[in-house]
Amino acid sequence: MARGTGLVSSRVAAMHGYTPGEQPQAGRLIKLNTNENPYPCSPLVAGAIADEARSLQLYPSPNADALRAKAAQVYRVAPEQVLVGNGSDEVLAMILRACVLDGDAVAYAVPTYSLYRTLAQSVGARVVEIAADGSAIPRGVADARARVTFVCTPNSPTGRAIALDAIAEFARSADGVVVVDEAYADFGTATALTILADHPNMVVTRSFSKSFSLAGLRLGLAFGHADFLAELLKVKDSYNISRLAIAAGVAALDDYAWMQSNVSRVRATRARVTARLRAAGFRVEDSSANFVWVDCSSAGGGRPVYDKLRAAGVLVRYFDVEGLRGGIRASIGTDEQMDVMLAVLGG
Ligand SMILES: Cc1ncc(COP(=O)(O)O)c(C=O)c1O
Repeated sequence: MARGTGLVSSRVAAMHGYTPGEQPQAGRLIKLNTNENPYPCSPLVAGAIADEARSLQLYPSPNADALRAKAAQVYRVAPEQVLVGNGSDEVLAMILRACVLDGDAVAYAVPTYSLYRTLAQSVGARVVEIAADGSAIPRGVADARARVTFVCTPNSPTGRAIALDAIAEFARSADGVVVVDEAYADFGTATALTILADHPNMVVTRSFSKSFSLAGLRLGLAFGHADFLAELLKVKDSYNISRLAIAAGVAALDDYAWMQSNVSRVRATRARVTARLRAAGFRVEDSSANFVWVDCSSAGGGRPVYDKLRAAGVLVRYFDVEGLRGGIRASIGTDEQMDVMLAVLGG
């Protein structure tokens, strides 16, 4: 028995940890595997971090008040309706920690963001996964009457979005918490923030990692009803957001137009790449996110295409799991980066 085995709970021993995408040394590969933004964040961010670095002897605001206030102003809600997380991943974990007891159901359609399963297992949930194409909330998810339901829109890895009407209808009929994961929403989905007020059981999560080009900073937001978020705060790490991240997040929101301009470039490249891949014979999903799902059945499946791209210095994501082996997910990089990928794929 390996040293350490038997020290953790049987629940943790039985679960698999999350498998993150590969994070290779900078510069060696064209990195299209974890949906980062190819363009840098606003220059205001570096200035804000440098200023704040002078105050690192002091603890940060426990609830990241400056960022909470700024996000409330930008997204037109009250500050009490905003919770700041160390990445949206932390917000998702807090929701499960606060809402789920052993054996409670946590439901979502698959394929989707695989962290949901890891987080649900870590709190002892009964995981209900229903196969679907990512464009609707399947019946089985509604039937699960789960304590927490994840609705990922646009979904990963397909890039498909779910209509707001469908989300609203589902939230009305759900007993538990409905988490609308909008990590990629800035790239092309109508946001559920517009219907949040009508649904006391809804929480919308956002990430600074994708559209704001701040994956390395770790910053995410939850928008919800003030009384619900106040409960979530009870299970938050005491100082979960550093002073540097709070200052950086405020600066990023101050320069919202910078994010929008980068999003426009990514969307233009996405349209071009989609058309070129289709012309080369690949079936490509219409994506509302900053990545495309490329069906590689015509090229022998996802693995050989992944290998061929990797040999040419292009790293995309291949998921060695049921239902996803037939394709690859490629993040949208710069036009120059995508041209290298297209050249390898004959597009
Ligand atoms: C659907 C989805 N939600 C949440 C996240 C996590 O985002 P963050 O970097 O803010 O933790 C990701 C990251 O890839 C994601 O794909």
